Order: sequence, then C-alpha cells, then structure tokens
Amino acid sequence: MFKNINEADLRDKTVLLRVDYNVPIQNNEILDDTKIKASLKTINYLLENNCRIIILSHLGKIKSAKDKEKYSLEVVAQRLNELVNTQVIFSRYTRSPELDLKVKTLNNKEILVLENTRFEDYPNKLESNCDLGLAEYWASLADVFVMDAFATSHRRHASTYGIAKFIPSYLGFLVLEEEKMLNTYVLHPEGTFTIIMGGSKIEDKILLMEKLLSKCNYMLVTGGLANSCLKALDLNVGTSLATDDAATLERIKDMLVRYKDKISLPLDVIVSKSYAEENVDVKNVNELDQEDYIGDIGPKTIRKYRGIIANSDVIFLNGTCGIYEDKRFSNGTLELLEILKESNKKVICGGGDALSAIKKFNHEHDYTYLSTGGGATLDYIINEKMAIID
Ligand code: 3PG
Repeated sequence: MFKNINEADLRDKTVLLRVDYNVPIQNNEILDDTKIKASLKTINYLLENNCRIIILSHLGKIKSAKDKEKYSLEVVAQRLNELVNTQVIFSRYTRSPELDLKVKTLNNKEILVLENTRFEDYPNKLESNCDLGLAEYWASLADVFVMDAFATSHRRHASTYGIAKFIPSYLGFLVLEEEKMLNTYVLHPEGTFTIIMGGSKIEDKILLMEKLLSKCNYMLVTGGLANSCLKALDLNVGTSLATDDAATLERIKDMLVRYKDKISLPLDVIVSKSYAEENVDVKNVNELDQEDYIGDIGPKTIRKYRGIIANSDVIFLNGTCGIYEDKRFSNGTLELLEILKESNKKVICGGGDALSAIKKFNHEHDYTYLSTGGGATLDYIINEKMAIID
C-alpha cells in the first residue's frame, strides 16, 4: 500500500503530509520542537518538488469540547513558519467548505497546516476509529499522501492509515530513517548488544523485554522494572513502585531464570523512608526495610553496569535509572549518560523517558540515533513492522 517517497512522482502535486507534531506545550509555548525539526527533511524535499503541502497532525487526546481549547495546532504552525523558507497558513478547520476553498487557492510551495486531526474525535471518535468517510474526505484534498509520522505509526487512525486506501501513498524520510536505524541497531545489531531497560510499570514493558532478550547479549534492568524483578525474587522492596500482580510476578520469575546469564539487576539502590523524605541512604538490595522507597540505583550497580557497557558494541537505551527529575535520585541516570558518552559505542535511544532525561541533561549530541517514537518505537520492535503497514 505504501511505497517509499523516492519512488513518487511529486512534481507540482498537492501532497497531504501526515507528521507527528504532538509536542509538549505550556502557556502557549512549545517546550521541545524536536519533532517539528525532524519533519523538515521531507517538507523541504516536497518544496523542492514545487508541491502544495497540506499538513495533518494530532496533538494530545481530545475527549471533550474543553480539550479543543487546549490542543490547537496554531502555535505549532507558527513555529513551523519560522523554520521553513515559505509561507505557512493555518486552517482552523479539519473539514469544511472554507477549507476546501483554501486548498483550491493554495499556491505551489505553500504549506497549509490543518487543525488537530483529533478534533474529529469529539464527539464521535472519527479519527481514532479510522472512519473511512473522514479519510476519504482528507484524501480528496490532494493527489498524493506522504506518511511521515513515525511516532504515530502504531495507530491505525483515519489520518495515518485510512487515507492510504484512497490515493497513492508513500513513506516519508523520517519514517524510513527510523525503520533503518531500528532494523540496523536493535533488530539486527552487529557485535555484543546490550540493552538498558528502565521504566515504571513492568506490565507495559514485559513483552518488549521478552522479545529483546532473545536478541541481546546483556540486559541491564533499572527503575520500577528492576523493583518488580527484585520482588519476583522474593526480595523486600518496601514501599517502592512494583507490581502486585501474582501472574506477572510469576512471568518475571520465569524470564529471570530463563535468561539468567543475560539479565543484570541492581546490587544496591538509593532509598528514602518515604517519597517526601529529604534524606536518602544507599542499601544493598537484600537489606531493605518495610518503609524503604527505591528511587535510584547505587554505586556498586553503576560500577557493574559500566563494566558491561565497556564490553559492548551496540547499546539500546530504553528508560532511566530512577526518578531523575528528583535531585535525590538523579545521580544514577546522570552517571549512566556520562558512561555512555565516554564509551564511544553505537548508542541508540528509544524515546520516552530516556529521551527526556537526555535532553534535560544536554546529552543529545552523544548518540548514534535518537528515535522520535515512544510507544511507536516499542511497537515496531515487538512486531518488526509498523501497524500502519498491512
Ligand atoms: C507520541 O507522542 O507518543 C505520539 O504522538 C502518539 O501519541 P498518542 O499516544 O496520544 O497516540
């Protein structure tokens, strides 16, 4: 259904371009424009081909009329206008006669950004339920569809998947780059492959861990995932975040036995007596009290993980070492980022929390590749393809 963008005859065409501009915004200010910048390669290519470009993106989740006040794409269109060498027009509509007219009068090399595609989700969930009437309407606005929203490629929505049923459709440069990097460094890595796996809820990650354990040489587990693993080994994790589900604990135990030569768990941790407590303590993982709350990994663990990283060729970072936003618990994540920086290895980051930490501590330039996908990256690794591909 989708071909690659370099196979398309795009000259002078009207192109419907789906990007992922789901960016963090506070008080009408964009806090991180990485995703907007990541879309520029495809946009500039379309401009070189003299195209008229209609941009579609979602922003947030729209469940009420109030959400529509919060999640307009107008500020994003303004930012795009600063980054491209052409005029960017914003349409308040996702579907209307006014929009049809605007599209008809669009000049070559102009960009029209439509309002948030998920405005179509309230009240009838037309976008998220992939309503084909809506997809057909959007398709009717253009000659060609280019899908470049890798971070939304795990959603079969009207704007990511439905449109491709009606007009010739192509994958954009960002999607192709993400696929290439994940295939090369995560699905088919060369040499010793180590995964640093963190996150809060094990239920969200266990499938990914099982999948990746068959591919990697080492998996260094951190964060809430590590707490659940320690608990599955009958260690006391006090009040720390960990699963209570007996079936999940059993599944973790099986995984730990099966892959005991690959999985590394923390040897020591940083704890406080409560989440609000100022003072912290370093404890071995078999010495925790009932009141202890784990917030980070300890120095022995960092030393052990450093040794494994030194013996690796490719490293996939998926998660942080603890609650890095909290000064008491940021050391593990900070040290790990420093170790990765100094390692001179191929290091790929799989989005989400780890990417936020990398940005917070200004480590963006130390990586072989930073994926723009969070859920989409994990979904791609598990299924070895994007959900939008039939
Ligand atoms: C993301 O930020 O992960 C993507 O834009 C997908 O957003 P969603 O989880 O709201 O579909």
